Amino acid sequence: MNEYYAHLTAHNDKITASTGTRPQFFIRTYGCQMNSRDSEKLSALLTQLGYAEADSQETADLVLYNTCCVRESAENKIFGHLSRLKNIKETTHPGMIIAVGGCMSQQPEIAETFSKSHSYVNIVFGTMNRHRLPQFIWSVIENGKQIIDITEDDDLPELDSVPVTTRDYPHKAGVNIMYGCDNYCSYCIVPYVRGRERSRPAADILHEVTALVADGVKEIMLLGQNVNSYGKGMDISFPELLRQINNVPGLKRIRFMTSHPKDFSDELIAAMAESSNVCKAVHLPLQAGSTRILEDMNRHYTQAQYLDLARRLQEAMPDVALSTDIIVGYPGETDDDFEATLEVVRQVRFASAFTFIYSKRSGTPAATRTDLVPRKVSAERFERLTGTLYPIMDEINQRKVGNVLPVMVEEANGDTAKGRTDDNTLVHFDTVDKVITPGEIIPVRIETAKTFYVSGVIA
Ligand code: SAH
Ligand code: SF4
Ligand code: F3S
Repeated sequence: MNEYYAHLTAHNDKITASTGTRPQFFIRTYGCQMNSRDSEKLSALLTQLGYAEADSQETADLVLYNTCCVRESAENKIFGHLSRLKNIKETTHPGMIIAVGGCMSQQPEIAETFSKSHSYVNIVFGTMNRHRLPQFIWSVIENGKQIIDITEDDDLPELDSVPVTTRDYPHKAGVNIMYGCDNYCSYCIVPYVRGRERSRPAADILHEVTALVADGVKEIMLLGQNVNSYGKGMDISFPELLRQINNVPGLKRIRFMTSHPKDFSDELIAAMAESSNVCKAVHLPLQAGSTRILEDMNRHYTQAQYLDLARRLQEAMPDVALSTDIIVGYPGETDDDFEATLEVVRQVRFASAFTFIYSKRSGTPAATRTDLVPRKVSAERFERLTGTLYPIMDEINQRKVGNVLPVMVEEANGDTAKGRTDDNTLVHFDTVDKVITPGEIIPVRIETAKTFYVSGVIA
């Protein structure tokens, strides 16, 4: 806590006393689970400062966009949404404070764009100074000047001490175990906008997990851009951390993402197989199946190494579900390279996959390439990729028909509900009038299967 917290809280309390309602905030989150977790923390922070969450951005006094820039489409979408917000501010809510934070803002040229041509945006902040938001808001209230600040503070984890009170689901939560990325895959902007890799002390992580469990959380997702390199330079490794979290009483399921294939050790496979609460699901981004392209991408594994890792995981845990990320149309990708990607898809048989068309990100090594794959070719390859992935995913789900699987309830609505199995399969089911609550694990008999989910009834 510092003077800005005190000023802002007193200011908000005064408004609440005179109007009878708290000033309202609204956060819109783009991008990955890291950003979702950051938004939960920012939302807890704003609540502490005397704000209440608004139902929509139209009525909010403070609107915060937590942005992503991993692909150009993400940025375009955000600018589109911002221009709508500008219109709301100008026509119905001139006092609205607009703040844009996160990965997109962290790029100096984007911050510059906001400064030059988006004066309706009051605050632009980054990924490494977000705990200074109270100071930025207070300054806007005091003098109305636009603030562009994307400096990198070292004390980033300070925000971790704010108790998170809002979550998308009451029973599950993400927990950062590390920040940043040092891998510099040639196409990727993340290392530039999220900074160097830093692991959180295990004691802090265990403390947070224990507090979340006390608050009703049954499932934890451990978050990092490359969780397998957790603890570098410290006297603990990721497998050891996993074993420790597995012993937290009351916690039923542990997941983690993302795993970089180059750092997935046999010790980690053993720790997963031996830890009863660790879900048998691994998100293992492939990116490309051609060794030549992988080398160019700076991924540090070959097609053969990836296939071998997938085989070792499947041997150690026969029910393991592997999911992945794949990029098509990376510069210089030939038809043969792309065939190599399809070959890995056929051999590994992914249970699910996120598929992307390569997007040029300025500042990354790949951005200087001139041997771009024409859009039409990428689009055609994308179709062939999903055409190979989906029938396999469908088949994997069809095999579940007739089985009774333990499902953790996510949402229950009247006599229908949805939840997830240990291997992360989405299950829609009929509750037959039984009262169930999120976080409960109940047996469901699977009756039908589709590509992206299965359906059944409480057994
Ligand atoms: N740290 C994770 C992923 C972070 S970004 C990992 O190493 O796998 C999530 C996914 O976005 C990546 O796995 C990649 O498939 C995709 N991606 C990243 N940069 C991209 C780009 N420039 N164009 C298209 N897809 C990209
Ligand atoms: Fe990006 Fe590679 Fe780091 Fe993942 S490991 S965030 S793809 S640079
Ligand atoms: Fe996007 Fe930043 Fe995540 S660029 S994918 S929100 S780390």
